[in-house]
Amino acid sequence: LASLEVDLGKIESGQTVTVKWRGKPVFIRRRTEGEIEREVAVDVASLRDPQADADRAQNPEWMVLVGVCTHLGCVPISNAGDYNGWFCPCHGSHYDASGRIRKGPAPYNLEVPEYKFMDGDKMVIG
Ligand code: FES
Repeated sequence: LASLEVDLGKIESGQTVTVKWRGKPVFIRRRTEGEIEREVAVDVASLRDPQADADRAQNPEWMVLVGVCTHLGCVPISNAGDYNGWFCPCHGSHYDASGRIRKGPAPYNLEVPEYKFMDGDKMVIG
């Protein structure tokens, strides 16, 4: 299956769900107001892989990421780590709630897959 439809209505604020798309985990996180504010306020110039939060989220409430660490491909743990985003236990990479690498060996931010919002609280990934 090339694309995957996800019902967003069941995801609560602050919660991350993991779905499987093209054999890979994809994280969908419904971010809280506080999380959004924190990520928007980050100084982009201070980042290893400089990307603004607004360039990573079509809608700030929703962060959609391929769940594969950009270091050596482990699956990071959601809502964990020093930046309360994702933590990769393999070698200790910490990602923020925008999926941006903040600490540890990973060179790049978590990848944002192609997705779009549909009517009726649905999202299509791919
Ligand atoms: Fe994630 Fe090495 S694979 S830190």
